[in-house]
Amino acid sequence: MAVHQEREHWKSRFGFLMAAVGSAVGLGNMWRFPYLTAEHGGAAFVILYILMSVFIAIPVLLAEMAIGRGASRGPIQALGFYGGRWWKCLGAVFVAAGFLIASYYSVIAGWTLRYSLEALFIGFPNDPVAHFGEISSGWDALAWHLTFMASTMWIVGNGVTGGIERTSVIVMPLLFLVVCGLAVYAATLPGGDAGYAYYLSAEDYTDIFSLDVLADAAGQAFFSLSLGMGAMLTYASYLDRTTNLPVQATIIAFSDFSVALVAGLVVFPIIFALGLSQDVSESTLGALFITLPKAFLDLGVVGRAVGFLFFATLVVGALTSLISLIEVVVASTVDLTGWKRRSATLSTGIAAAVFGIPAAINISILDAMDQVATHVLLIGGGLALAVFTGWVMPEPEREIAAGAGSYWWFPLWRRILRYAVPLTLALLMFKAVPRTVSNVLALFP
Ligand code: PHE
Repeated sequence: MAVHQEREHWKSRFGFLMAAVGSAVGLGNMWRFPYLTAEHGGAAFVILYILMSVFIAIPVLLAEMAIGRGASRGPIQALGFYGGRWWKCLGAVFVAAGFLIASYYSVIAGWTLRYSLEALFIGFPNDPVAHFGEISSGWDALAWHLTFMASTMWIVGNGVTGGIERTSVIVMPLLFLVVCGLAVYAATLPGGDAGYAYYLSAEDYTDIFSLDVLADAAGQAFFSLSLGMGAMLTYASYLDRTTNLPVQATIIAFSDFSVALVAGLVVFPIIFALGLSQDVSESTLGALFITLPKAFLDLGVVGRAVGFLFFATLVVGALTSLISLIEVVVASTVDLTGWKRRSATLSTGIAAAVFGIPAAINISILDAMDQVATHVLLIGGGLALAVFTGWVMPEPEREIAAGAGSYWWFPLWRRILRYAVPLTLALLMFKAVPRTVSNVLALFP
């Protein structure tokens, strides 16, 4: 029998906002977004990503927030509360997705931590390709993965307000400042124009009509906004009913998008100014970790400082995102078992760290986990959430109206959740699932 303890609430709305933005802003914005944009030829992908975010992801964000705040529980209990026993299974899939993503996300986060400390104390390597090869998998990667996971556990273990909120309100505003500062620096580099042109005005828009690219854009929109696995649902469950959800959702989405956009304004001019654009068009998972250090090395002392700030920002973004991933599992464990937060955090963190070991040892496994997570679990999760809120949850508009009043677009929102989101995502999954399966198989010849 579940034991319900007194539930924590965010101390302030700003605290919630920084935690939610902290969950959204992370490796997705500063690593995944630039590398996917490069892989798909620049601006065309940016446009698809914006369309997917506005019409598909933001309605789902609002849905997650309505379910979470309405039920005041983690995903399993919340879906059970509105939908009955069977919907709890979906909640369980969410928790499993959070666990899976946390386990490999921490490995990449470990690379960023190592890069930032190296920039600070040693400088960037002369041979970035060899360096990345050495540190991205094997014992080194494992050690940094465990370090990162342990730091996250420490913060989550300190509670929603004492750990998560307190950390986010300090580090997130700093992150914004530093990213903007880096974009200004990038703008001063001679020769960066080609980078802006590539990023902001593609010559070739044929990619827009490819379902594969659209699926990547949708996957990225969900990943970047932390949607489809209950992270925003869980954070909203600590909100009170006077909060205006549509306003919060808009600020979260806007901030997340701004950081991704500005991260592109940092990465592309730097890379093009240093004549490294060839490396980018052959972009893969590790591209940023190879190309950018090359650029930072060429830029001398200033490059080292800028490089340190860049990777330190990645560390901060990754930390606040990993916190939310672990929190989904911890909140559900506490809801279901009545364990103390610290014990739940300890067991979750250790289990996720162990589960991440294969990703730390073999980068192909990491790649496979990322593809399965984004293309199958998050898109599938978004689809199921839209169906749940559109068809099953009784009067989700009522929950949104609490703290916000009624809006003219409520019926439109419901219709988007009922029809537009499920149909679009089902179509994309139809394409993306077989592709993911073959990609994953190809990684292990
Ligand atoms: N949104 C995070 C990022 O952009 C990743 C994330 C995905 C976090 C899903 C929580 C849930 O890096």
